[in-house]
Amino acid sequence: MTWALLTLTVLLVALSRAAPSPPGWKFDLKETRSGVVGLESIVVSPTLVLFLDRATDDPLQINNHSAWGALWNLETSTVTPLDLITNSFCASGALLSNGSAVSVGGDPHNFPGNEQVQPGQQAIRIFEPCASPTGEGCTIFEDPATLHLLETRWYPSSIRIFDGSLMIVGGAHTDVKFYNIDPALSFEFFPPKESTPRPSAFLNRTLPSNLFPRIFALPDGKVFMVANNQSIIYDIEANTETILPDIPNGVRVTNPMDGSAILLPLSPPDFVPEVLVCGGQQVDDSLQPGNFSTQQPATSQCSRITLTPAGIAQGWVVEHMLEPRVMPELVHLPNGQILVANGAGTGFAATGQVADLVGDSDADHAVRTPSLYMPAAPPGRRFSNAGLPTSDVARVYHSTITLTPQGNFLVAGSNPNNNFTADPSLKFPSELRVETLDPPFMFVGRPRILSAPAKIPFNTRVTVPVSLPLALSRPGANVQVSLMDLGFSSHAFHSSARLVFMDATISADRTSLTFLTPPNGRVYPPGPATIFLTVDDVTSEGAWVMMGSGNSPPTLE
Ligand SMILES: *[C@@H]1O[C@H](CO)[C@@H](O)[C@H](O)[C@H]1NC(C)=O
Ligand SMILES: *[C@@H]1O[C@H](CO)[C@@H](O)[C@H](O)[C@H]1NC(C)=O
Ligand SMILES: *[C@@H]1O[C@H](CO)[C@@H](O)[C@H](O)[C@H]1NC(C)=O
Ligand SMILES: *[C@@H]1O[C@H](CO)[C@@H](O)[C@H](O)[C@H]1NC(C)=O
Ligand SMILES: *[C@@H]1O[C@H](CO)[C@@H](O)[C@H](O)[C@H]1NC(C)=O
Ligand SMILES: *[C@@H]1O[C@H](CO)[C@@H](O)[C@H](O)[C@H]1NC(C)=O
Repeated sequence: MTWALLTLTVLLVALSRAAPSPPGWKFDLKETRSGVVGLESIVVSPTLVLFLDRATDDPLQINNHSAWGALWNLETSTVTPLDLITNSFCASGALLSNGSAVSVGGDPHNFPGNEQVQPGQQAIRIFEPCASPTGEGCTIFEDPATLHLLETRWYPSSIRIFDGSLMIVGGAHTDVKFYNIDPALSFEFFPPKESTPRPSAFLNRTLPSNLFPRIFALPDGKVFMVANNQSIIYDIEANTETILPDIPNGVRVTNPMDGSAILLPLSPPDFVPEVLVCGGQQVDDSLQPGNFSTQQPATSQCSRITLTPAGIAQGWVVEHMLEPRVMPELVHLPNGQILVANGAGTGFAATGQVADLVGDSDADHAVRTPSLYMPAAPPGRRFSNAGLPTSDVARVYHSTITLTPQGNFLVAGSNPNNNFTADPSLKFPSELRVETLDPPFMFVGRPRILSAPAKIPFNTRVTVPVSLPLALSRPGANVQVSLMDLGFSSHAFHSSARLVFMDATISADRTSLTFLTPPNGRVYPPGPATIFLTVDDVTSEGAWVMMGSGNSPPTLE
């Protein structure tokens, strides 16, 4: 080796030490298992995630029986079982304006391992705000005899609306195996707005593939809905529906053909709503499931619409994910990007129905690499999985993912089986492994929101103390402040998930942040919110606040 070459080699080694590769995204598998399948997940406090499952023989025990609910502690990655009365299998839920989490609907049956469970399809389960950071002493309240839905509902969806109540949409009355053959063709509210459910022509038109309708509270207080391949805007106050164009190309996006859907971030001053719908299946839903295959390719199609008169006239605009996915989930990042995670490349949701099952699974080819969608990038350049890791764990049917107040994603489930089964010979056993997906900003100096008021009124300028690492203190840095509902994750849909950007400035001395809250509860339904500060794509931990009065619903403030 010549001296010159040796010197160059030494120099290169020194350089590679001096400039380590920038931190990337990482999956971080936790030591503790979830104990119950994380089939539904919702963040209920700055440190706790509520998991709900089927009442069967999951390993986590409480009061001498298998638990089907649990609290995951985000700080310690440990789990505390909860005792429930009714079967929460394939239920829905959200946070209300007063901070209580509500879970509604569920399964009519009991399963081996939990014969004492009561039917869940009319259940209302209330998790009152719980101050314990560890989950110890937190409980779920149920009184099936006096506190229940108007109609039985399995596979419903629910969202928090402009007055802080819950709107509950659709579902099946009883045990359906694949299609919605015993449908609940109605909407209702909690607390109730009337004594009988509201019939829905839309739900009738979208049979038989309309379980877990994908629904959003729009910034004018109306509700967007997509089920099967059809969409509408529903006016709660006038009880009228406006029919929107179909999803193009025969793509169906609700259970058992699960695609996912998301309300893109809303920005001041106009908060123009845009909806993105991705994945699902492109098959004839007059065929019976026995005609379908686990190997039927899912669609890579995404469809996007702007919900203004001009946008509706233009209709859905088609683009494509990097790969086909059935049962993907779409989740907001605080910087306005969308994470696409979980799901399978082929097949269907539900279990035990198609011709060539994989174990009990109707789907195959788990997609284990997430990707990002950049809503403002030019069409064709919006999706990327550069730098995104691949998980060892398949997250297919009955899996969940949620953004946490810490700013990373908690991933749990799946269980595409008719029972709880840890059988290692199965390709997709019941999955108790929990992991976080950690964005690159978890490994660098982050901005901090040092404190925030517990309650924040609408249409108000609020100033909070912050600290910024030197690296993020450059003049002209891109500052984003997002007000987020972290949503409720189940069946490839993140109901109530919302990101509202707020106009914000950082003081000249970089010690305080001033932001303007949304004008009213139509733009952000009153209730719990997490505020994140992002500077040049480096996001703070979230500040958990109550947006609005904290009154019980219905409330207009
Ligand atoms: C659990 O079972 C044990 C033994 O069968 C019994 O002593 C105990 O009282 C039971 N605990 C509860 C909470 O039912
Ligand atoms: C659903 O639509 C069909 C016509 O397609 C009609 O016969 C039926 O009465 C409707 N059901 C409800 C509950 O609206
Ligand atoms: C939506 O599905 C219905 C029922 O299968 C079908 O008749 C219609 O053509 C589909 N719409 C589009 C745009 O593909
Ligand atoms: C296939 O679909 C046809 C028409 O829907 C139905 O009659 C037949 O029973 C189905 N076959 C299987 C195996 O499910
Ligand atoms: C699995 O669940 C089904 C009901 O879905 C039940 O009939 C069967 O007994 C269960 N099998 C086992 C091994 O628990
Ligand atoms: C929130 O409102 C619901 C519905 O009225 C009620 O059941 C719940 O107890 C309330 N929670 C709190 C903390 O007031």
